[in-house]
Amino acid sequence: MSAMNECMALGSPPTNPERRSRNANLLPTFAEEDDILADGTFVRKGTRVTYHPYAMGRMERVWGSDCLEYKPDRWLKNGIYIPENPYKYPVFQAGPRVCLGKEMALVEMKCVVLAIIGRFNIRVATDPNQAPRFAPGLTATVRGGLPILVQEREAN
Ligand code: HEM
Repeated sequence: MSAMNECMALGSPPTNPERRSRNANLLPTFAEEDDILADGTFVRKGTRVTYHPYAMGRMERVWGSDCLEYKPDRWLKNGIYIPENPYKYPVFQAGPRVCLGKEMALVEMKCVVLAIIGRFNIRVATDPNQAPRFAPGLTATVRGGLPILVQEREAN
């Protein structure tokens, strides 16, 4: 769980789902009236409000000075997995519009990871000196794709 969450914190699959102001919890996407967000930000009527889980997963203010490092252990306390506040880790959204398929998606990911890493060695096949470039969209992708090398593990 901690490894999967750490991957999705650094590379959130949804990049910026649309969100509305406090007074318009469901639809529409635009503030229905002047509003003040929980952090004191003033939102004028008609303003489009969004949040950006990809950016939030890489913010020092949210995750600390090691925010860009892959550190699954940050999800563990004394070796035990502790789920993060969904408003801090909104990859599946939070509150009344939280993803209804979250648990299913996590089970699917665990099944795929278990089925693949037991049988194959997988390595990124791009230039190690060139970091993959994020391509914004409805869901996050890597610009130009992410070539990988897959090798069947030798049977023991
Ligand atoms: C890694 C996989 C997934 C991620 C990261 C994800 C993320 C999200 C996010 C961010 C939202 C909120 C969108 C908004 O702002 O309104 C959402 C909504 C939703 N998701 Fe997922 N999702 C995933 C997989 C799934 C799966 C597998 C299902 C179904 C089996 C599913 C069903 C839904 C539904 C029905 C909603 C709408 C909830 C509502 O508006 O009341 N999702 N998801």
